[in-house]
Amino acid sequence: MAGLLIICDSHTGNTEKMAEAVAEGAKSVAGVEVNTKYFARPEELAQADAIIFGAPTYNHDMTIPIKQMLEEAAKANVQLNGKIGAAFGSYGWSGEAPRLVLEVLKNRFGMNIIEPGLAVLYTPNQAKLEECRKLGKLIAEKIAAK
Ligand SMILES: Cc1cc2nc3c(=O)[nH]c(=O)nc-3n(C[C@H](O)[C@H](O)[C@H](O)COP(=O)(O)O)c2cc1C
Repeated sequence: MAGLLIICDSHTGNTEKMAEAVAEGAKSVAGVEVNTKYFARPEELAQADAIIFGAPTYNHDMTIPIKQMLEEAAKANVQLNGKIGAAFGSYGWSGEAPRLVLEVLKNRFGMNIIEPGLAVLYTPNQAKLEECRKLGKLIAEKIAAK
């Protein structure tokens, strides 16, 4: 079965709400196992067919747990070439994190990224949650069809 990994960091729950909706959309597709985690080891990243990062913006950057996870994966030289990568996250005024995550996924890991990242101002409303569900569904469909 194809595997979709959602990794989410969230301090005040906004990006977590997005992650739940992304997972819901992905789970609507048959033949895909969806896992949501706060942290994944390099081997877990390597096992997934698609990885979606939930990355809120703090201090014009992704948060430290996400940065550390990517650095650990890079040091372990984990092979993610050609896997699908995507990013979403809540923000307050500048919202860089999803774009920064996507740059690393593409340039360091050679992932096949879905651009642009999905950035939502503070708490996602119903329309934004629906966009999250669509993102999850789109990616699950891509790997289910493999
Ligand atoms: C200390 C602090 C720093 C922040 N820095 C930024 C920032 O640089 N750019 C931005 O767009 N939002 C910034 N925010 C706003 C958060 O991104 C926003 O509150 C978001 O909803 C948090 O998502 P979360 O609930 O998933 O943690 C900051 C918030 C705090 C408390």
